[in-house]
Amino acid sequence: MEFLSKRITGMEDPTGETASIIKELEGKNITVTNFIMGDPSKYFRIQKNIKDAYNKAVNSGKTFYLPGPGLPQLRDEVSNRYLKLYDIDFDKDKVIITQGVVEALQFLNHSLIYKNDSALLLAPFFTQYLPCVTQQEGRPLISNLNEFNKWEIDIDDMERLFKISKSKPKYLLITTPNNPTGSILSEKSIRKIVEFGKNHDIFLVSDEIYDEIIYNGAKFISLGKVAKGVPHMILNGASKNYMATGFRIGFSIIPEEDKKSKKLRDSFIKLSYSRLSANTPSQYAILEGLKNKKAHNKFIKEILPKIQTRSNLITNLVNKTEYLATIKPVGAFYVFAKIDFTKLNIKNDKEFVEKLLKEEHIQITKGSSFGLPGYVRIISLPEEKIIHTAIKNIEHFCNRHKITTKKI
Ligand SMILES: Cc1ncc(COP(=O)(O)O)c(C=O)c1O
Repeated sequence: MEFLSKRITGMEDPTGETASIIKELEGKNITVTNFIMGDPSKYFRIQKNIKDAYNKAVNSGKTFYLPGPGLPQLRDEVSNRYLKLYDIDFDKDKVIITQGVVEALQFLNHSLIYKNDSALLLAPFFTQYLPCVTQQEGRPLISNLNEFNKWEIDIDDMERLFKISKSKPKYLLITTPNNPTGSILSEKSIRKIVEFGKNHDIFLVSDEIYDEIIYNGAKFISLGKVAKGVPHMILNGASKNYMATGFRIGFSIIPEEDKKSKKLRDSFIKLSYSRLSANTPSQYAILEGLKNKKAHNKFIKEILPKIQTRSNLITNLVNKTEYLATIKPVGAFYVFAKIDFTKLNIKNDKEFVEKLLKEEHIQITKGSSFGLPGYVRIISLPEEKIIHTAIKNIEHFCNRHKITTKKI
């Protein structure tokens, strides 16, 4: 009999494939340039008022458990945020604080997916979406976003998948701004998604964790703004907009009063109590972060131009190579580039990233990790100098692996 459950034995180790290469390089004292971790906290300092509020919470003895669904004042501040930013009105009972969006994804799948139930995902997607479905032995249905139309949805493909699926998807999960593409969904696409959810009675989930990391003149629209009266959930948190990844604070908002929304909200509340509490000092710290809008606006104003410059620099450099091509990102901090394998002696994205790591000591992520092979994701967080060197070295690497046609 297997000791570990089937849930775990089917799980991929995300670091497994490159771990041995990294170990070998480290053994030779070689430094690897990391372009994989979408962790802004490693590149930018978090707001001082958030750090101070965290320390104050600890020093004043706020080290106890809080209620499972979260600190009431924080839940209230999340609802204020949506009213102020998007004119979306819901009360604090519609908000559940989780330990990051990832815990909300676990709650979502724990609540809705069990053996062969399906969920509709749009590729490329954030790496954790798939394991959260498969851990429940659920079946992901995957529709690709359309690269040739700024990574918008392909509604015909979604309808086709819906028709051929043996079980009706329990939910549709969208991401805007998107990791890994850096694109955002247009209002037209969001409206189509809402119609799709309504017509097929599918619960809609929108992961909007990068909703303040918008640049290059783009305009973000929240699903919550369009989905009034339709069962849906918004996911957000402190990890990206507040660059407080290690605080582990996520916001789950289920604003409607229909049967499905109520059931899911109840389930989230039960699950939140089953793990007792999210991190207490972090909740006090993020409460301060949300309340002090002046400090946050100043912070966002300072970091956005930096991310925009870095993102545009990678985009321009990548598009100058003859091997990689990308669409200009307008949100989040990623560049997702297509590899032209017709020019290379490399067969797929996995081989590309492994060889690049071995030969150039640059670590980027293969598109397959996001459900779309043939691409690579490069983070746009490191400083320009590091970007210049890395992309130049990626180009050298490609030149070395170029297919050369011999003259007869
Ligand atoms: C789209 C998306 N959702 C969620 C997360 C993780 O969020 P959290 O740190 O709140 O768990 C990430 C992290 O990269 C992400 O890209």
